[in-house]
Amino acid sequence: MAAADSFYITTPIFYVNDVPHIGHAYTEVAADVLARWHRQRGDDTWLLTGTDEHGQKILRTAVANDTTPQAWADRLVESAWLPLLETIDIRNDDFIRTTEPRHETAVATFLQKLYDDGHIYSGEYEGYYCVGCEEYKQLDDLLETEDGDYAGQLVCKIHGRPVELLKEKNYFFRMSAFEQKLLDLYENTPGFVQPASVRNEIIQFVKQGLADLSISRSSFDWGIKVPWDDSHVVYVWFDALLNYITAIGYGVGASDKPDEQFQRRWPAVHIVGKDIARFHAVIWPAMLMAAGLEVPKAVFGHGWLLVGGEKMSKSKLTGIAPSQITDTFGSDAFRYYFLSAIAFGQDGSFSWEDLSARYQAELANGFGNLASRVVAMVTRYFDGAVPSVDIDPKIATLEKRVTDEANTAIGSFAINEALAVIWQLVDALNLYITENEPWALAKDPAAKARLEHVLASAVHGLGTLAVLLSPVLPKAAARLWEALGGQGELDAQPIDRAWAWTGAGQVTPLETSLFPRIEQDVTV
Ligand code: ME8
Ligand code: MG
Repeated sequence: MAAADSFYITTPIFYVNDVPHIGHAYTEVAADVLARWHRQRGDDTWLLTGTDEHGQKILRTAVANDTTPQAWADRLVESAWLPLLETIDIRNDDFIRTTEPRHETAVATFLQKLYDDGHIYSGEYEGYYCVGCEEYKQLDDLLETEDGDYAGQLVCKIHGRPVELLKEKNYFFRMSAFEQKLLDLYENTPGFVQPASVRNEIIQFVKQGLADLSISRSSFDWGIKVPWDDSHVVYVWFDALLNYITAIGYGVGASDKPDEQFQRRWPAVHIVGKDIARFHAVIWPAMLMAAGLEVPKAVFGHGWLLVGGEKMSKSKLTGIAPSQITDTFGSDAFRYYFLSAIAFGQDGSFSWEDLSARYQAELANGFGNLASRVVAMVTRYFDGAVPSVDIDPKIATLEKRVTDEANTAIGSFAINEALAVIWQLVDALNLYITENEPWALAKDPAAKARLEHVLASAVHGLGTLAVLLSPVLPKAAARLWEALGGQGELDAQPIDRAWAWTGAGQVTPLETSLFPRIEQDVTV
């Protein structure tokens, strides 16, 4: 049992068959915002991300590119997957690759334990396999197409590509033995799978009956060897799911005595796309139960970014590179846009028009302009010295309410709701400035006290915004904090007390707007 204040959060580990698109970046950003928020709340936070490098999909990609799977993975990780983290400003604590020895060794340890304890047997499997999903499919998961390239063939509903009929000797994990335990878990811990739509789907799936799971392959060798039979490699999903514990040191010591990091951090919160919720909410907890380990705290399956009504994907060539957006709008706007425009847990359609419109209205005119105006007025009217007077009680009350509600929303993964609440403060401060017209007060010597009060209140509201927005807009919030003369590091300000910040003495004008106007036409 991890310490009470442990917050261990993970993203999926992504396949390195291709470069990342904005769907992968979306998951990364969501997990990063949750991690930054918890870190700033003082929780013992750890954000893990990484890459999934074994299996047939990677092997075939490498062969098609005249190289080895290891060389291919190395190249993609260096040239695309690590740079992604810079592009969208992810502050991860670790990055795991499934080809690292720390992972491979611990996977073997875990598997051997399950074998020794009687959870694994050998048998024969015959069924349809989708290499895109790296999964054996039931007929329900397939479509028979009538026209197009694959007419008359069975194709995977997710990838739209033909499945392959496989017949192999495999090792099986007795997953069926955990059917009732899983149903009890969903029942007794309603927050285990979220949101409700995904939870219901998972419960329906398990209620139909769980089969045992084939966990090895013998027709190719790009994988971790099964410890007691080196003619088999471990099934890529069984290997991949274990990253969440191997990365924090499971299996470093004796298999029954996981190390200190593991004790400190496990169990985790897993942020995944709903496409892979089943692996995380069914197979993974069953594996952990078999090993006598705690199940995750929660599995959150977010929605899909859609293009033309379909899931954006590498295999359908509908991917948009994150840098196409950040090159023009910056990483903060990328982070803000996807987390505010899409309800976390639901699907969302991306469009350049929507991105541009929200950038202009919410970031440039809403937040950025507010910051520039207030700082400029304090500079002009008071030589930059923030008047040290009481602030407006209405602003103070709003700051407190917004802080509390945003913090609660984050606690239930409602990232878009947290942002909507924070934007109430942005809008209220803009209205406050418009109504009080500090520029008019400044012309009237008798209104000096009033002017001091209004600008001190606006500065205070902006400080609260800097603290609250730091997880989502780390760059802009840090610039604002510096302009306000905030004391100490911004990301060390307790976010659940964002309303209580103190210490703006002297402001420094912002050289350029936090969100400059975008001149070029991006609606290509
Ligand atoms: O499934 N919209 O890796 P993967 C939103 N290696 N999110 C999307 C998306 C979209 N259109 N497309 C992809 C794998 N994603 C396995 C995971 S974990 C132990 C192993 C995101 O490269 C989303 O998080 O296919 C989805 O679940 C993930 O990328 C799939 O990435
Ligand atoms: Mg995929």
